[in-house]
Amino acid sequence: MAQWRLSLTIFTILAAAAAAAQSPLNPEEQEAVYRILDSVSPGTPWRSLFPDDLCSSAPHGVACDYFSSAATPHVTELSFGYVSDFSPNPACSPNSTLNPSLLSPFPRLRKLMFYKCFTQSKTPFPNFSSLSQASSLEELIFIENPALIGTLHGRIGNLKRLRRLILTGTGVSGGVTDWIGKFADLEKLTLSRNGFSGEIPINAFRNMTKLKILDLSNNEFEGSLPESIGFATSLLKVDLSHNKFSGKIPENLTCLKNVQFLDLSYNNFGKFGFPLSLAEMPNLKEVYLSGNSLGGEIPDIWDNMRGIMGIGLSSMGLVGSIPRSMGVHLRNACYIGLDNNMLQGVVPHELGDLELVRDLNLENNNLSGRIPFSADFLSKLGGKLKLEGNLDLCIDETLKSAKVSLDLGHIKVCRKPYVSRNALFHESFSPSSTFPFLALVLGVLALIVVSM
Ligand SMILES: *[C@@H]1O[C@H](CO)[C@@H](O)[C@H](O)[C@H]1NC(C)=O
Ligand SMILES: *[C@@H]1O[C@H](CO)[C@@H](O)[C@H](O)[C@H]1NC(C)=O
Ligand SMILES: *[C@@H]1O[C@H](CO)[C@@H](O)[C@H](O)[C@H]1NC(C)=O
Ligand SMILES: *[C@@H]1O[C@H](CO)[C@@H](O)[C@H](O)[C@H]1NC(C)=O
Ligand SMILES: *[C@@H]1O[C@H](CO)[C@@H](O)[C@H](O)[C@H]1NC(C)=O
Repeated sequence: MAQWRLSLTIFTILAAAAAAAQSPLNPEEQEAVYRILDSVSPGTPWRSLFPDDLCSSAPHGVACDYFSSAATPHVTELSFGYVSDFSPNPACSPNSTLNPSLLSPFPRLRKLMFYKCFTQSKTPFPNFSSLSQASSLEELIFIENPALIGTLHGRIGNLKRLRRLILTGTGVSGGVTDWIGKFADLEKLTLSRNGFSGEIPINAFRNMTKLKILDLSNNEFEGSLPESIGFATSLLKVDLSHNKFSGKIPENLTCLKNVQFLDLSYNNFGKFGFPLSLAEMPNLKEVYLSGNSLGGEIPDIWDNMRGIMGIGLSSMGLVGSIPRSMGVHLRNACYIGLDNNMLQGVVPHELGDLELVRDLNLENNNLSGRIPFSADFLSKLGGKLKLEGNLDLCIDETLKSAKVSLDLGHIKVCRKPYVSRNALFHESFSPSSTFPFLALVLGVLALIVVSM
């Protein structure tokens, strides 16, 4: 009994000590939180809804941390814009504004996020470099803010600790030359769907050894992709699609041994042929090069690319035939797109052996001969097998009449009836079929001998 009471007393003392150690947020930061809430979400009585210490009780999206032995709390994260019930940050009103001076009172701010906050009234991108504490920011995130405009020029260069810079779906434009490459700790650089333009400086990637995600898709970037990309050896995902990058795809891509996702599609990379460097990127799972006029033939590199799950090689000016080895080695492929090229010759029957394939597009080439796929394969893919636009391609009567639920449209029926290899073996004894027959007989004899 006495022991029980003692431990209860100790517990009470410890709890009281812990509470005392957690001193409240200083009034200046507390006030600054209210002011920024009022500016992005006017009309909500934030002060009366959250009258207490905001580090103990704050709206979702406001987070604090305790620093050093003095245990003084500081605001470390501010996230605005209702994302979902799991991330119910303060909703932004259509007339949200952001004056960067509102951020001055937060010496330890690490993360700042705005989701659908600047959607109507034009808001210039704030000058984060003007904040004296700018260097504490590690994550700067703007998602779906179409009314956020202006350029980043001269506005983020001082954010030396930046680990994640995410700007997607904004009206921000201009170049990236004055700041890209300045953040040695950068792990994620996502600038998709904005109005960025201009060239990427030659040495941009020299110091980006920690970069894992690079997504510059859907902008107006131009010029060559710098060879220095080869220094960013931590990269897992590279998406440069839908820009105006030109010149040669850098051979230094071979340095990027960890990349799993590579999308260079819909740029202006020029007629330098298929980039053989891909064969030296052992972790590739998805590769998209469509919409660049690289020209040349599809090389026979697929033995080294067995991890591929998706490959898009549409509209590339490819000539020659489809290598059989694609069907032999791409056992993990779900998607293969070779449409809108100038490929000729027969469709390798090996493609029909790919068990995981669900989407195969060979449309608009110059392929010829018999479609080599089984009825099972045809019905498995259904409308996801695209073969139209190959004038000399034909389909067997038996397949066309089989209850295959796909639209092979105007593909003609092959003229000569199909003779299976089995039938050939039994019915005719041409010299070319004598050898396999002899081999079979000898094999059976050998088996009998061995088993005796
Ligand atoms: C901003 O919108 C809120 C409602 O969303 C409204 O209460 C407030 O008066 C508006 N402020 C201005 C300056 O228009
Ligand atoms: C942003 O602020 C910094 C520091 O005060 C200043 O050097 C820079 O010129 C400013 N940028 C712009 C675009 O005004
Ligand atoms: C990379 O870092 C080095 C050393 O910190 C620095 O001198 C150089 O200017 C940086 N490169 C770029 C492109 O910023
Ligand atoms: C990239 O290639 C260039 C020229 O081919 C070479 O000078 C440079 O060292 C390479 N960089 C990397 C990171 O491999
Ligand atoms: C299509 O292929 C045939 C040979 O199979 C060739 O004679 C013809 O020129 C090719 N057409 C085009 C447009 O490449």
